[in-house]
Amino acid sequence: MTRALFEPLRLAALNLANRIVVSPMCQYSANDGVASDWHMTHLGMLANSGAGMLVVESTHVARSGRITHGCLGLYSDACEAALARIVAHCRRIGSAKLAIQLSHAGRKASSQRPWEGGKALPAAEDPWPTIDPSAIPFGLGWHTPRAMNEDDMARVVTLFVEAAKRALRIGFDAVELHMAHGYLLHGFTSPVSNTRNDQWGGSLEGRLRFPLEVARAVRAVVPSGTPLGARFTGSDWMEGGLTGNDAVVIAKALKEAGLDYVDVSSGGVSLEAQGKLPTSAGYNVPIAERVRREAQIPTRTVGLIVSPKQAEAIVAEGRADMVALARAFLDDPHWAWHAATALGGEVAHPPQYARAGPALWPGAAMRR
Ligand SMILES: Cc1cc2nc3c(=O)[nH]c(=O)nc-3n(C[C@H](O)[C@H](O)[C@H](O)COP(=O)(O)O)c2cc1C
Repeated sequence: MTRALFEPLRLAALNLANRIVVSPMCQYSANDGVASDWHMTHLGMLANSGAGMLVVESTHVARSGRITHGCLGLYSDACEAALARIVAHCRRIGSAKLAIQLSHAGRKASSQRPWEGGKALPAAEDPWPTIDPSAIPFGLGWHTPRAMNEDDMARVVTLFVEAAKRALRIGFDAVELHMAHGYLLHGFTSPVSNTRNDQWGGSLEGRLRFPLEVARAVRAVVPSGTPLGARFTGSDWMEGGLTGNDAVVIAKALKEAGLDYVDVSSGGVSLEAQGKLPTSAGYNVPIAERVRREAQIPTRTVGLIVSPKQAEAIVAEGRADMVALARAFLDDPHWAWHAATALGGEVAHPPQYARAGPALWPGAAMRR
Protein backbone atom coordinates (compact mmCIF):
# COMPACT_ATOMS: atom_id res chain seq x y z
CA MET A 1 0.00 0.00 0.00
CA THR A 2 1.26 3.51 -0.77
CA ARG A 3 2.04 5.48 2.32
CA ALA A 4 1.49 9.24 2.33
CA LEU A 5 4.68 9.81 4.32
CA PHE A 6 6.77 8.34 1.52
CA GLU A 7 5.09 10.20 -1.34
CA PRO A 8 7.36 12.70 -3.10
CA LEU A 9 6.62 16.42 -2.81
CA ARG A 10 7.54 19.24 -5.13
CA LEU A 11 8.31 22.65 -3.62
CA ALA A 12 8.97 25.26 -6.33
CA ALA A 13 11.32 23.31 -8.66
CA LEU A 14 12.70 21.08 -5.91
CA ASN A 15 11.59 17.46 -5.62
CA LEU A 16 11.64 15.93 -2.14
CA ALA A 17 11.71 12.14 -2.01
CA ASN A 18 9.30 12.03 0.93
CA ARG A 19 7.52 14.15 3.55
CA ILE A 20 9.98 13.57 6.38
CA VAL A 21 12.11 16.55 7.38
CA VAL A 22 14.92 16.78 9.91
CA SER A 23 14.02 19.86 11.90
CA PRO A 24 16.68 22.56 12.37
CA MET A 25 18.64 22.01 15.56
CA CYS A 26 21.25 24.35 17.02
CA GLN A 27 24.39 22.49 17.94
CA TYR A 28 26.19 25.36 19.70
CA SER A 29 29.40 23.91 18.29
CA ALA A 30 30.65 26.55 15.88
CA ASN A 31 33.80 28.61 16.37
CA ASP A 32 32.96 32.29 15.93
CA GLY A 33 30.09 31.29 13.64
CA VAL A 34 32.24 28.85 11.65
CA ALA A 35 31.01 25.25 11.34
CA SER A 36 33.24 22.61 12.94
CA ASP A 37 33.99 18.90 12.64
CA TRP A 38 30.93 18.33 14.83
CA HIS A 39 28.73 19.72 12.03
CA MET A 40 30.48 17.50 9.51
CA THR A 41 29.60 14.42 11.54
CA HIS A 42 26.14 15.52 12.67
CA LEU A 43 24.90 16.79 9.30
CA GLY A 44 26.67 14.04 7.36
CA MET A 45 24.84 11.46 9.46
CA LEU A 46 21.46 13.17 9.07
CA ALA A 47 21.93 13.67 5.32
CA ASN A 48 21.87 9.87 5.26
CA SER A 49 18.84 9.50 7.50
CA GLY A 50 16.38 8.78 4.69
CA ALA A 51 14.58 12.09 5.33
CA GLY A 52 13.58 14.00 2.20
CA MET A 53 14.95 17.24 3.62
CA LEU A 54 17.50 18.19 6.22
CA VAL A 55 17.30 21.75 7.55
CA VAL A 56 20.58 23.09 8.88
CA GLU A 57 20.25 24.71 12.29
CA SER A 58 19.51 28.35 12.95
CA THR A 59 22.31 30.09 11.06
CA HIS A 60 22.81 33.69 12.02
CA VAL A 61 23.04 36.55 9.60
CA ALA A 62 25.26 38.62 11.91
CA ARG A 63 27.85 37.88 14.58
CA SER A 64 25.80 39.95 17.04
CA GLY A 65 22.67 38.11 15.93
CA ARG A 66 23.90 34.76 17.28
CA ILE A 67 22.15 33.22 20.26
CA THR A 68 25.37 31.99 21.89
CA HIS A 69 29.13 32.14 21.36
CA GLY A 70 28.78 28.64 19.81
CA CYS A 71 26.06 29.42 17.27
CA LEU A 72 26.47 28.96 13.56
CA GLY A 73 26.71 32.02 11.32
CA LEU A 74 26.78 32.94 7.66
CA TYR A 75 28.19 36.44 7.82
CA SER A 76 31.81 35.99 6.73
CA ASP A 77 33.87 34.27 4.06
CA ALA A 78 35.17 31.87 6.73
CA CYS A 79 31.57 30.91 7.67
CA GLU A 80 30.73 30.40 4.00
CA ALA A 81 33.80 28.28 3.24
CA ALA A 82 33.25 25.95 6.20
CA LEU A 83 29.57 25.41 5.39
CA ALA A 84 30.39 24.88 1.72
CA ARG A 85 32.71 22.01 2.71
CA ILE A 86 29.99 20.45 4.82
CA VAL A 87 27.32 20.80 2.13
CA ALA A 88 29.66 19.23 -0.44
CA HIS A 89 30.30 16.38 2.01
CA CYS A 90 26.55 15.84 2.61
CA ARG A 91 25.95 15.73 -1.15
CA ARG A 92 28.72 13.20 -1.73
CA ILE A 93 27.59 10.81 0.95
CA GLY A 94 23.90 11.50 1.58
CA SER A 95 20.51 11.78 -0.10
CA ALA A 96 18.52 14.47 1.77
CA LYS A 97 17.84 17.78 0.10
CA LEU A 98 19.58 20.52 2.08
CA ALA A 99 17.91 23.62 3.45
CA ILE A 100 19.31 26.31 5.70
CA GLN A 101 17.48 28.28 8.36
CA LEU A 102 18.52 31.95 8.48
CA SER A 103 17.99 33.86 11.67
CA HIS A 104 18.76 36.82 13.86
CA ALA A 105 18.34 36.14 17.58
CA GLY A 106 17.12 39.63 18.57
CA ARG A 107 16.68 39.96 22.34
CA LYS A 108 17.54 36.27 22.87
CA ALA A 109 21.08 36.85 21.59
CA SER A 110 24.10 36.99 23.86
CA SER A 111 23.13 34.00 25.94
CA GLN A 112 24.82 30.88 27.25
CA ARG A 113 24.75 27.48 25.57
CA PRO A 114 21.95 25.38 27.14
CA TRP A 115 24.45 23.13 28.89
CA GLU A 116 26.21 26.18 30.33
CA GLY A 117 23.01 27.53 31.88
CA GLY A 118 21.00 28.91 28.95
CA LYS A 119 20.70 32.34 30.58
CA ALA A 120 21.85 35.78 29.45
CA LEU A 121 25.65 35.95 29.30
CA PRO A 122 27.01 37.55 32.49
CA ALA A 123 29.67 40.28 32.30
CA ALA A 124 32.47 37.73 32.74
CA GLU A 125 31.39 35.74 29.66
CA ASP A 126 31.84 38.36 26.95
CA PRO A 127 28.23 39.48 26.39
CA TRP A 128 27.26 41.88 23.61
CA PRO A 129 24.47 44.45 23.10
CA THR A 130 21.20 43.13 21.68
CA ILE A 131 18.42 44.65 19.56
CA ASP A 132 14.68 43.98 19.24
CA PRO A 133 11.59 45.93 18.18
CA SER A 134 11.07 47.19 21.75
CA ALA A 135 13.38 47.62 24.72
CA ILE A 136 11.81 44.79 26.72
CA PRO A 137 13.97 41.94 28.04
CA PHE A 138 13.05 38.31 27.34
CA GLY A 139 12.63 37.79 31.08
CA LEU A 140 13.98 38.69 34.48
CA GLY A 141 17.79 38.78 34.43
CA TRP A 142 17.99 39.04 30.63
CA HIS A 143 19.64 41.81 28.63
CA THR A 144 17.47 44.78 27.80
CA PRO A 145 17.65 45.11 24.01
CA ARG A 146 17.92 48.46 22.27
CA ALA A 147 14.72 49.27 20.35
CA MET A 148 15.61 49.20 16.66
CA ASN A 149 15.44 52.32 14.52
CA GLU A 150 14.90 52.33 10.77
CA ASP A 151 18.65 52.26 10.05
CA ASP A 152 18.92 49.07 12.12
CA MET A 153 16.03 47.60 10.17
CA ALA A 154 17.57 48.44 6.81
CA ARG A 155 20.85 46.88 7.99
CA VAL A 156 19.13 43.68 9.14
CA VAL A 157 17.31 43.35 5.79
CA THR A 158 20.68 43.61 4.04
CA LEU A 159 22.20 41.03 6.40
CA PHE A 160 19.45 38.52 5.57
CA VAL A 161 19.89 39.17 1.85
CA GLU A 162 23.68 38.80 2.04
CA ALA A 163 23.40 35.56 4.01
CA ALA A 164 20.84 34.21 1.51
CA LYS A 165 23.27 34.98 -1.32
CA ARG A 166 25.99 33.09 0.50
CA ALA A 167 23.60 30.15 1.03
CA LEU A 168 22.82 30.07 -2.69
CA ARG A 169 26.53 30.23 -3.59
CA ILE A 170 27.14 27.28 -1.28
CA GLY A 171 24.43 25.40 -3.18
CA PHE A 172 21.68 24.93 -0.60
CA ASP A 173 18.50 23.53 -2.16
CA ALA A 174 16.17 25.69 -0.06
CA VAL A 175 16.27 28.70 2.23
CA GLU A 176 14.13 29.09 5.31
CA LEU A 177 13.53 32.19 7.45
CA HIS A 178 13.32 31.78 11.20
CA MET A 179 10.24 33.69 12.33
CA ALA A 180 9.62 31.58 15.43
CA HIS A 181 10.71 30.90 19.00
CA GLY A 182 11.13 34.51 20.11
CA TYR A 183 13.97 35.45 17.77
CA LEU A 184 14.02 38.81 16.00
CA LEU A 185 11.42 38.26 13.25
CA HIS A 186 9.01 36.63 15.69
CA GLY A 187 9.88 39.44 18.10
CA PHE A 188 8.38 41.88 15.61
CA THR A 189 5.30 39.74 14.94
CA SER A 190 4.27 39.13 18.53
CA PRO A 191 2.44 41.77 20.59
CA VAL A 192 4.27 40.41 23.65
CA SER A 193 7.65 41.71 22.44
CA ASN A 194 6.58 44.41 19.98
CA THR A 195 4.92 47.34 21.74
CA ARG A 196 5.93 49.98 19.18
CA ASN A 197 3.40 52.58 18.22
CA ASP A 198 4.92 53.50 14.86
CA GLN A 199 4.23 51.77 11.53
CA TRP A 200 6.37 48.75 12.64
CA GLY A 201 4.06 47.87 15.53
CA GLY A 202 0.47 48.12 16.65
CA SER A 203 -1.87 45.88 14.64
CA LEU A 204 -0.75 42.51 13.30
CA GLU A 205 -0.40 44.20 9.93
CA GLY A 206 2.07 46.69 11.45
CA ARG A 207 3.94 44.02 13.41
CA LEU A 208 4.30 41.91 10.27
CA ARG A 209 5.62 44.82 8.20
CA PHE A 210 9.29 44.25 9.01
CA PRO A 211 9.31 40.41 8.76
CA LEU A 212 7.54 40.76 5.40
CA GLU A 213 10.11 43.29 4.25
CA VAL A 214 12.82 40.76 5.04
CA ALA A 215 10.85 38.00 3.30
CA ARG A 216 10.34 40.05 0.13
CA ALA A 217 13.97 41.18 0.02
CA VAL A 218 15.21 37.59 0.38
CA ARG A 219 12.66 36.37 -2.18
CA ALA A 220 14.09 38.90 -4.63
CA VAL A 221 17.49 37.13 -4.55
CA VAL A 222 16.35 33.52 -4.19
CA PRO A 223 15.43 32.26 -7.68
CA SER A 224 11.82 31.22 -8.14
CA GLY A 225 12.78 27.57 -8.61
CA THR A 226 14.49 27.45 -5.21
CA PRO A 227 12.04 27.05 -2.35
CA LEU A 228 11.92 29.86 0.17
CA GLY A 229 10.01 29.03 3.33
CA ALA A 230 9.55 30.30 6.85
CA ARG A 231 9.11 28.72 10.23
CA PHE A 232 6.82 30.83 12.37
CA THR A 233 5.25 30.68 15.78
CA GLY A 234 1.57 29.88 15.39
CA SER A 235 0.76 30.44 19.07
CA ASP A 236 2.60 32.22 21.86
CA TRP A 237 0.67 30.10 24.39
CA MET A 238 0.33 33.27 26.39
CA GLU A 239 -2.42 35.71 27.34
CA GLY A 240 -2.31 38.59 24.84
CA GLY A 241 0.06 36.71 22.50
CA LEU A 242 -0.26 35.27 18.99
CA THR A 243 -3.03 32.72 18.42
CA GLY A 244 -4.14 30.30 15.72
CA ASN A 245 -6.21 33.09 14.10
CA ASP A 246 -3.03 35.15 13.72
CA ALA A 247 -1.23 32.11 12.31
CA VAL A 248 -3.60 32.02 9.35
CA VAL A 249 -3.06 35.74 8.68
CA ILE A 250 0.72 35.33 8.93
CA ALA A 251 0.72 32.38 6.53
CA LYS A 252 -1.43 34.23 4.00
CA ALA A 253 0.89 37.24 4.16
CA LEU A 254 3.98 35.05 3.68
CA LYS A 255 2.35 33.37 0.70
CA GLU A 256 1.56 36.79 -0.73
CA ALA A 257 5.24 37.74 -0.24
CA GLY A 258 6.15 34.83 -2.52
CA LEU A 259 7.11 32.12 -0.05
CA ASP A 260 6.74 28.51 -1.13
CA TYR A 261 5.97 26.89 2.21
CA VAL A 262 5.55 27.53 5.90
CA ASP A 263 6.45 25.54 8.98
CA VAL A 264 4.08 25.99 11.90
CA SER A 265 5.85 25.83 15.24
CA SER A 266 4.97 27.67 18.44
CA GLY A 267 6.16 29.25 21.66
CA GLY A 268 9.43 30.87 22.68
CA VAL A 269 8.41 34.51 22.94
CA SER A 270 9.00 35.08 26.63
CA LEU A 271 10.46 33.47 29.72
CA GLU A 272 7.03 33.84 31.28
CA ALA A 273 5.55 31.38 28.75
CA GLN A 274 8.37 28.87 29.00
CA GLY A 275 6.60 26.26 31.13
CA LYS A 276 3.38 26.63 29.14
CA LEU A 277 4.36 24.86 25.93
CA PRO A 278 2.02 21.88 25.48
CA THR A 279 3.53 18.45 25.91
CA SER A 280 0.89 16.48 24.01
CA ALA A 281 1.74 14.52 20.86
CA GLY A 282 1.71 16.69 17.74
CA TYR A 283 0.68 19.81 19.68
CA ASN A 284 1.14 22.14 16.69
CA VAL A 285 -0.81 19.98 14.25
CA PRO A 286 -4.24 21.62 14.82
CA ILE A 287 -2.78 25.06 14.00
CA ALA A 288 -0.89 23.71 10.97
CA GLU A 289 -4.06 22.05 9.72
CA ARG A 290 -5.95 25.35 9.87
CA VAL A 291 -3.10 27.21 8.20
CA ARG A 292 -2.91 24.66 5.39
CA ARG A 293 -6.66 24.73 4.80
CA GLU A 294 -7.24 28.46 5.11
CA ALA A 295 -4.01 29.89 3.67
CA GLN A 296 -3.64 27.20 0.99
CA ILE A 297 0.13 27.00 1.21
CA PRO A 298 2.30 23.87 1.53
CA THR A 299 2.62 23.41 5.28
CA ARG A 300 5.02 21.59 7.52
CA THR A 301 4.45 20.99 11.16
CA VAL A 302 6.64 20.05 14.09
CA GLY A 303 6.50 19.30 17.78
CA LEU A 304 6.33 15.94 19.51
CA ILE A 305 5.89 13.94 16.35
CA VAL A 306 7.48 10.72 17.43
CA SER A 307 6.05 7.51 16.00
CA PRO A 308 5.87 6.51 12.33
CA LYS A 309 2.12 5.86 12.62
CA GLN A 310 1.53 9.32 14.02
CA ALA A 311 3.60 10.96 11.27
CA GLU A 312 1.83 8.94 8.58
CA ALA A 313 -1.62 9.91 9.93
CA ILE A 314 -0.76 13.65 9.93
CA VAL A 315 0.17 13.56 6.24
CA ALA A 316 -2.44 11.00 5.14
CA GLU A 317 -5.26 12.97 6.78
CA GLY A 318 -4.14 16.15 5.03
CA ARG A 319 -3.29 17.94 8.27
CA ALA A 320 0.17 18.92 6.95
CA ASP A 321 2.19 18.31 3.79
CA MET A 322 5.40 17.57 5.67
CA VAL A 323 6.38 16.62 9.18
CA ALA A 324 9.57 17.81 10.85
CA LEU A 325 11.12 15.86 13.69
CA ALA A 326 13.91 17.09 15.92
CA ARG A 327 14.50 15.05 19.08
CA ALA A 328 13.30 11.82 17.47
CA PHE A 329 16.19 12.17 14.98
CA LEU A 330 18.71 12.83 17.75
CA ASP A 331 17.42 9.72 19.47
CA ASP A 332 17.46 7.67 16.27
CA PRO A 333 19.32 9.15 13.29
CA HIS A 334 17.86 6.30 11.22
CA TRP A 335 14.28 7.17 12.20
CA ALA A 336 13.15 7.33 8.57
CA TRP A 337 14.63 3.88 7.81
CA HIS A 338 12.74 2.43 10.74
CA ALA A 339 9.56 4.29 9.76
CA ALA A 340 9.83 2.81 6.28
CA THR A 341 10.20 -0.69 7.74
CA ALA A 342 7.30 -0.17 10.14
CA LEU A 343 4.91 1.30 7.56
CA GLY A 344 6.00 -0.56 4.45
CA GLY A 345 7.54 2.41 2.66
CA GLU A 346 10.92 3.01 1.08
CA VAL A 347 13.66 5.54 1.76
CA ALA A 348 17.19 5.87 0.43
CA HIS A 349 19.78 3.73 2.21
CA PRO A 350 23.50 4.08 1.66
CA PRO A 351 24.73 0.85 0.03
CA GLN A 352 27.38 0.49 2.75
CA TYR A 353 24.57 -0.16 5.26
CA ALA A 354 22.31 -2.21 2.99
CA ARG A 355 22.98 -5.38 4.96
CA ALA A 356 21.15 -3.89 7.94
CA GLY A 357 17.99 -3.41 5.84
CA PRO A 358 14.92 -5.67 6.14
CA ALA A 359 15.67 -7.39 2.80
CA LEU A 360 19.07 -8.69 3.95
CA TRP A 361 18.87 -8.81 7.74
CA PRO A 362 16.30 -11.00 9.50
CA GLY A 363 17.18 -9.07 12.67
CA ALA A 364 15.37 -6.00 11.24
CA ALA A 365 12.04 -7.72 11.99
CA MET A 366 13.17 -8.85 15.43
CA ARG A 367 14.11 -5.41 16.74
CA ARG A 368 10.50 -4.12 16.83
C1 LIG B 1 18.89 20.49 20.29
C2 LIG B 1 17.81 21.31 19.69
C3 LIG B 1 18.12 22.45 18.96
C4 LIG B 1 17.12 23.19 18.32
N1 LIG B 1 17.47 24.24 17.52
C5 LIG B 1 16.53 24.82 16.72
C6 LIG B 1 16.88 25.70 15.67
O1 LIG B 1 18.06 25.93 15.40
N2 LIG B 1 15.89 26.26 14.96
C7 LIG B 1 14.55 25.99 15.18
O2 LIG B 1 13.70 26.52 14.50
N3 LIG B 1 14.21 25.11 16.14
C8 LIG B 1 15.15 24.51 16.89
N4 LIG B 1 14.80 23.56 17.80
C9 LIG B 1 13.38 23.17 17.89
C10 LIG B 1 13.12 21.96 17.00
O3 LIG B 1 13.44 22.20 15.65
C11 LIG B 1 11.66 21.50 17.12
O4 LIG B 1 10.83 22.50 16.63
C12 LIG B 1 11.29 21.17 18.57
O5 LIG B 1 12.31 20.43 19.21
C13 LIG B 1 10.01 20.34 18.63
O6 LIG B 1 10.14 19.18 17.83
P1 LIG B 1 10.47 17.73 18.45
O7 LIG B 1 9.38 17.41 19.43
O8 LIG B 1 10.44 16.80 17.24
O9 LIG B 1 11.80 17.76 19.11
C14 LIG B 1 15.77 22.82 18.47
C15 LIG B 1 15.45 21.70 19.25
C16 LIG B 1 16.44 20.94 19.83
C17 LIG B 1 16.06 19.70 20.60
